[in-house]
Amino acid sequence: MRLRRNPKAIELLTTHSLSVADYEDQKGNWKELFGNSHPIYVELGTGKGQFLAKASTTYPEINWIGVEKIQEPLLLAARKGEETGNENIRYLWLDIVKLQEAFAPGEIDRFYLHFSDPWPKTRHYKRRLTYRDFLEVYKTLLSPKGDLILKTDSDSLYQFSVDELQETGWNIIEQSSDLHHSQWAETNITTEYEEKFAGLGMPIYYLRAVPDEGNTNG
Ligand SMILES: C[S@@+](CC[C@H](N)C(=O)[O-])C[C@H]1O[C@@H](n2cnc3c(N)ncnc32)[C@H](O)[C@@H]1O
Repeated sequence: MRLRRNPKAIELLTTHSLSVADYEDQKGNWKELFGNSHPIYVELGTGKGQFLAKASTTYPEINWIGVEKIQEPLLLAARKGEETGNENIRYLWLDIVKLQEAFAPGEIDRFYLHFSDPWPKTRHYKRRLTYRDFLEVYKTLLSPKGDLILKTDSDSLYQFSVDELQETGWNIIEQSSDLHHSQWAETNITTEYEEKFAGLGMPIYYLRAVPDEGNTNG
């Protein structure tokens, strides 16, 4: 469901303690911001932030960042994160096309793409977040042992993503067309959209990919 516009969302976000407004200043300095050298995992298109709130509690030894381009869901996400009391979590109001303004090469250890918009019309394929130009950016920003995790309900986005990953030098090392009945089901942390689609009886597609021959960044 689309959220009602909140005219104060920008102001509330910029002043929220877990929201990072000066992301350009943090580029290359995220570990200093978190005050530790733990790995940094980034969820791209975090929505209302259910995954981040749960993941940051389950894995306190990871630093978690949610990137979202729409203010209203991100504000809800930041409030959800605040309720956890966790310090290993931050929120970034940013369009993914500008990811390189916020992160330095090799700075990220994992990207999550959870239920990204499938952009089903063929003429919109370059907007899909697994289009090759995006994949090249993710590869640059990943650390040498970094990886990318994707979950989706869309078989067409999944197939497109597999093709693009293979075309751009990634190695798919885990894969399932029914995550909830796979070996990865037990440790899976669900997102809002995932629960919605799984509740309708739809299978969840999953993959984990690493750049071929590792990554030379960092
Ligand atoms: C379908 S929702 C999924 C939300 C959440 N990841 C989940 O699984 O419940 C996709 C989210 O990605 C965000 N998004 C789409 N394109 C984006 C972009 N270019 N930059 C940042 N966020 C984006 C949308 O605003 C939306 O909140």
